Amino acid sequence: MYTPFVPEKTSDAVAVYPGTFDPITMGHLDIIKRGLSLFDRIIVAIAENIAKKPLFSIEERVEMIRACFPDDEKRVEVDTVSGLLVDYAYTRGARAIIRGLRAVSDFDYEFQLALMNRRIEREVETVFLMTGFRWIYISSSIIKDAARHGGDVSGLVPDHVCEKLRERFMQGR
Ligand code: COA
Repeated sequence: MYTPFVPEKTSDAVAVYPGTFDPITMGHLDIIKRGLSLFDRIIVAIAENIAKKPLFSIEERVEMIRACFPDDEKRVEVDTVSGLLVDYAYTRGARAIIRGLRAVSDFDYEFQLALMNRRIEREVETVFLMTGFRWIYISSSIIKDAARHGGDVSGLVPDHVCEKLRERFMQGR
């Protein structure tokens, strides 16, 4: 008879939600909210993606994300990660990496990332959560582009992020 291996349950189910978050959007918040119904704690980890030139500094991004969770500090931690994501997850006691899926176009890249992460560290699983329908077509880049040209992005990012975008692009005019 096949007996499946059942991993020991650690005291808290912790997940890491990584990304560039430049800036955090309602789509990211939707994923965090969904993640909180499955995990006891989520570590939102701002990671460097060398292919991207961020608009906001790491400190600004940390601050913007923290401001989204004034009452949930115990369940949502904001941190930065350098080096391998799976190493970070493992050392922080997280056995899951959360990634949001918006459309089929996300799938190829996410699949590659998840398989490479699994190859490096088998004990960390990637969990995909489907983004809320309203946020399927947004990304941080498209929001920045609209804001840069004076477009109204309210409702797509939290109010304090909207204000930061407005300030940043006013400076450049
Ligand atoms: N709602 C809205 N937008 C979303 C979204 C959602 N639910 N989910 C993703 N996006 C957008 C993001 O805004 C981002 O938009 P942008 O490209 O315009 O900035 C894009 O989709 C995907 O970016 P993000 O989720 O931030 O991931 P990323 O591709 O920038 O980062 C890392 C990928 C950080 C997870 C990856 O580079 C990593 O793990 N780095 C650490 C180093 C490492 O371990 N490397 C080896 C990996 S195998």
